[in-house]
Amino acid sequence: MDTVITTSVVEAAENIKKGGIVAFPTETVYGLGADIFNEKAIAKVFWAKGRPADNPLIAHIGNLYQIEVLTAVIDSRTNAFIEKFFPGPLTIVLEKSESVPLIATAGLETIGIRMPKHDLALGFLSSCEHPLVAPSANLSGKPSPTDWKAVYADLNGKIDCILKGQTTEIGLESTVLDCTGEIPLVLRKGAVSIEDLQELVPETEIYSSVDPKTPKSPGLKHKHYSPTAKVVIVTDTDDIDLSDEKCAFIGLNKPKQDFTVVRILDTSEEYARNLYSFFRYCDEKKIATIYCQTVEETGIGAALIDRLSRAAN
Ligand code: TXA
Ligand code: MG
Repeated sequence: MDTVITTSVVEAAENIKKGGIVAFPTETVYGLGADIFNEKAIAKVFWAKGRPADNPLIAHIGNLYQIEVLTAVIDSRTNAFIEKFFPGPLTIVLEKSESVPLIATAGLETIGIRMPKHDLALGFLSSCEHPLVAPSANLSGKPSPTDWKAVYADLNGKIDCILKGQTTEIGLESTVLDCTGEIPLVLRKGAVSIEDLQELVPETEIYSSVDPKTPKSPGLKHKHYSPTAKVVIVTDTDDIDLSDEKCAFIGLNKPKQDFTVVRILDTSEEYARNLYSFFRYCDEKKIATIYCQTVEETGIGAALIDRLSRAAN
């Protein structure tokens, strides 16, 4: 199949209406969209990514009215989250409505909903007839794509269209917040921090699974976010003992050793924005080990440490 590359939201939306699957930019990472009511197109998303069938997809909306077709009831607490954080890098998990097909939610009776804070994404989503399901537009197990070229490298020939936009602003996936229980639970950390959420609803907690085999967010048990190179997290750069292999470093302070590739960033935000493209670059350069400096665990730093830890495992 020929993958069309376009900057036109109309052309991208036409592809969706014809049952195609389309990659598009958001403020977090690029997503791979399909009409939420087209089961064949959704199956194609799982196929193109090589995604395990038990990993549910997030619904993406272009306006707040679209929430009504996805979920039956919204309580006042959830409404408060929506008012404060939509559009933005927050996915809210709610009871799904009957019309949402089970293939979208991997058999779950809940659905994650997100409204990206991104003009091109919102224009595209609004041009489609229905909400879209959209996982990150990478091959399963690879780092999420933060520019259209990473999407192309992973999925060219397998998807119908790439809506070409800029490099993504945040660079890490959205915060996933489960609002179906007694207290709101953060299932995946992201740019909307636990502090941000607790400011609005103080009892919000970070979910920690007692039994890692049955996580509340099925995606958490799958290998994620990792390059082929080995990832090692370092606190003090002086402690790094370089071997003869090709090694890389990414962090906020310049190390004194001689690495094959070094990327120094000014802030945790910039570090987050660059991490996945750096991982991909290191794989292209056949780097054996990537040393990643740890950061303070506040704001985006918590999400960054979360992704570094997953990649290091
Ligand atoms: O920033 C993002 O969220 C990006 C962009 C494209 O919007 N999307 C994204 O989707 O990261 P994906 O499919 O790569 O990650 C979705 C995560 C997975 O870990 C999945 O298991 C979890 O959200 N998830 C989705 N629906 C869920 C549900 N109903 N209950 C619990 N976890 C859910
Ligand atoms: Mg993903």
